[in-house]
Amino acid sequence: MAVRHFLTLKDFSKDELNQLVKRACELKTMHKNGEIYEPLKNKVLGMIFEKSSTRTRVSFEAGMIQFGGGAIFLSPNDTQLGRGEPIEDSARVLSQMVDIVMIRTFAHEKIEKFAQYASVPVINALTDDYHPCQLLADMQAYYEVHGDIKGKTVTWIGDGNNMCHSYINAAAQFDFKLNIACPKVFEPMQSLVDENSDRVTVMNDPKQAIKGAHLVVTDVWASMGQEEEQAERMQQFKDFQVSPALMDTADKDALFMHCLPAHRGEEVSEDMLDDPRSVVWEEAGNRLHAQKALLEFLLINSK
Ligand code: CP
Ligand code: NVA
Repeated sequence: MAVRHFLTLKDFSKDELNQLVKRACELKTMHKNGEIYEPLKNKVLGMIFEKSSTRTRVSFEAGMIQFGGGAIFLSPNDTQLGRGEPIEDSARVLSQMVDIVMIRTFAHEKIEKFAQYASVPVINALTDDYHPCQLLADMQAYYEVHGDIKGKTVTWIGDGNNMCHSYINAAAQFDFKLNIACPKVFEPMQSLVDENSDRVTVMNDPKQAIKGAHLVVTDVWASMGQEEEQAERMQQFKDFQVSPALMDTADKDALFMHCLPAHRGEEVSEDMLDDPRSVVWEEAGNRLHAQKALLEFLLINSK
């Protein structure tokens, strides 16, 4: 069987994704009960990080340790990747040494190329275009509180960025309606919106987009790699802050999520993360369990 990769949510079927979320919940319970489960003994995850990370690095590394395996952190500062060794050569070499690779990088094409030449599974740990691992954790966090997200309305407020693109894919794969509110020049990839026009609507007014929302999600206004645009973006996005007052206009049972790190006083008001409707800490914690389900699937169940 051809090796499976997880570069976007579209690489897995709807059934597989729903199974992953349920498995993540089981693994979380097992972990909380102190159950030792080591299905990946002697397996090694290579972790290539070309951008910073707290949650992604720690959750993948901890997950591999808990599963009885190990992980190697690879930064461009001290590997040949940073000195221009071609991506296709690195993919072929690393495939001889580790069992699975996770990559956080800039251009999405780079991870596609790595996957094309790798003979082991490759996981997208964030590119400029997508962040599918975060979506597994988010879907788990919703499921834990309200059950199936199918048929619900999700509202994305802010930048049409990598997280927003993954929410568009999630709308198709998990079968929900997605309203996106962005300033006009920061709308998500048009082709992706067009492909999903049956369930995705782009608007420019957060107050309109949030009506009836069962889940409200935002992210930073300037992503990694856009630091120089920060001041300009602060201006453009100033009407797109999520606050408890804005949440009051969503569905009465609405949840709030943010992939973190967050900038209080910018995309979220000072008090939003601590609001009772916010599940950001559970969401962050679920990165561990959702990715353990993903690793188990790629290294054991999909074989
Ligand atoms: N949400 C997320 O991916 O966080 P890190 O950048 O800390 O990995
Ligand atoms: N959109 C953000 C997400 C960080 C987890 C970024 O790419 O920096």
